[in-house]
Amino acid sequence: MPDRVRLVVLFGGQSAEHDVSCVSGWHVLRAANRDRYQLEAIGIDRQGIWRQADDPTTAPEAGGGTHDHLSAVGSPINPMVALAPQAGQPALTVVLPVLHGPGGEDGTVQGLLEMANVPFVGAGVLGSALCMDKLKAKDVLAAHGMPQVPWIGLREGDCAEVVALARAAGLQYPLFVKPANLGSSVGVSRATDEAALEIATALAVRYDEWIVVEESAHGREIEVAVLGNTEPQASVPGEIIPAGDFYDYNDKYLNGAADLIIPADLPPTTSEEIRRLAVAAFTILRVDGMARVDFFYEPDGRGLLINEVNTIPGFTPISMYPKLWAATGVPYDALIDELVRLALDRHARRSRFSTTR
Ligand SMILES: Nc1ncnc2c1ncn2[C@@H]1O[C@H](COP(=O)(O)OP(=O)(O)O)[C@@H](O)[C@H]1O
Ligand SMILES: [Mg+2]
Repeated sequence: MPDRVRLVVLFGGQSAEHDVSCVSGWHVLRAANRDRYQLEAIGIDRQGIWRQADDPTTAPEAGGGTHDHLSAVGSPINPMVALAPQAGQPALTVVLPVLHGPGGEDGTVQGLLEMANVPFVGAGVLGSALCMDKLKAKDVLAAHGMPQVPWIGLREGDCAEVVALARAAGLQYPLFVKPANLGSSVGVSRATDEAALEIATALAVRYDEWIVVEESAHGREIEVAVLGNTEPQASVPGEIIPAGDFYDYNDKYLNGAADLIIPADLPPTTSEEIRRLAVAAFTILRVDGMARVDFFYEPDGRGLLINEVNTIPGFTPISMYPKLWAATGVPYDALIDELVRLALDRHARRSRFSTTR
């Protein structure tokens, strides 16, 4: 690890997960080691304008504790200019995007960072885009024989036929309906019958052109944190006990009502199998750096089923990703160090290829 790194924490964004991202960004800025990093905070406001905070330590909480205040934290910047090396700064810059959802976790920001030729934490364009799109991720995981619940994908124009399409595919109720490109349970609902399926579909399609309709898993929710590039490692598995019907937005970020059990109480062979599948999914979906791989576990049914892979997991104090690593022996500040190291490693690895004939 080089002496001092300019660490740019990127948070906010134009997605429905803007608030969550600000909380994650705030926590990372607080925890990062000041001796090691020259910290900068760049917030993307709800209008999509990038703003550089004058004071990175207070940026995400400026504005009286609300999260809808990014317009108050600093002046608009041009990201390509702001991220370029500047005189008087450490030689190395690493960007840590803690942006959740579309326009941050989906490869768009990663493309901008690639064009700026700046090392950044986490998956690149392809891995980010694949994991963000629940439908394409399912297709690719299925092509590699990874276990999942049965599902169908629908485009906006097909939503009027949802009941018939679900029936034709033989899907068994209750069904889960979700926008293909979102997270934090926004737009996700559970439908116990055909009438509810139509309502759930109408909700999901407000958030994306593509939606997923899938069978419910009847079992436990287990999550594993993966860290690494070419040789990714999996944390101990953790279990989520949702407070309500399922693990919704309130549980995740607002009241923390869900219980997180770390490590999950599982037979050692199951635990090993989950870790193996988590690393496999990470590799299949071309992820780098970090991801949280989420499973359902039906002990008396279909066994382990992959739900989804999150390339920018939450970093709030109640978030699973940092907690899983802490329980595996990597505390929060060391986790940031390792993510920065992996970002530099990935950038060096990809810079070494020839660009001439
Ligand atoms: N097929 C399913 N069976 C059972 N519960 C589900 C299913 N799909 C989603 N859920 C519940 O909804 C939550 C959010 O869905 P998820 O697919 O993880 O979307 P998000 O990207 O919003 O986290 C899950 O954590 C789980 O509690
Ligand atoms: Mg999820």
